[in-house]
Amino acid sequence: MREIVLATRNKKKIEEFKRITKDTGVALLTLDDFPGCPEVIEDGVTFEENAEKKAKSVAAYTGKAALADDSGLEVNALNGAPGVRSARFAGKNADDEKNVKKLLFEMRSLGPDKRGARFVCCMVLAFPDGIIHKFFGYAEGIIATEPKGIYGFGYDPVFYPEGHRRTFAEMPDEEKDALSHRGKALRQVYEFLRTRNFIGSH
Ligand code: IMP
Repeated sequence: MREIVLATRNKKKIEEFKRITKDTGVALLTLDDFPGCPEVIEDGVTFEENAEKKAKSVAAYTGKAALADDSGLEVNALNGAPGVRSARFAGKNADDEKNVKKLLFEMRSLGPDKRGARFVCCMVLAFPDGIIHKFFGYAEGIIATEPKGIYGFGYDPVFYPEGHRRTFAEMPDEEKDALSHRGKALRQVYEFLRTRNFIGSH
């Protein structure tokens, strides 16, 4: 079975990856399988830069194909913020709840037509020989005025995907996967791997 190392320790992301890739015949390893793998500082100014840095570093360390993602929320009215700073929007001790609170506060005076946003995901697949491939996924939507729902993570409770009346956090996992930026990017990755005969079809 072919192996790919996921360049993340985020449990929620690992769960999402595993769900979307089940039955593809690829064995997913994670950084927990490589405790000595050096931590990569995500100091890039784009999602692409961060994902590339992580994927290359993990492929070089493990000698296996590595897949890294960098993702976040871009709000039109905030000129693309929180963007690459999505995870630490509320500052040093930020967590999901504090980030959401800050976002809603910053957007408190914005009416329904000014609440457009999108989730962005860049995935980079790196091979130990240094070759990389990039994939992008987007989910357009609207920022809510109050959090709703219990599923997911991050900004899910305040994100209404376009054409839907429930937030990502009100959707069961499979429904979010079908619409999400990460789901879209990951399906491209797997399509690519299939066409290169890296994995079998399911
Ligand atoms: P990363 O781990 O550097 O990619 O940071 C991603 C951050 O963006 C997370 O901590 C969340 O705040 C936000 N984010 C990315 N993807 C999602 C998602 O699917 N739902 C909600 N928030 C997300």
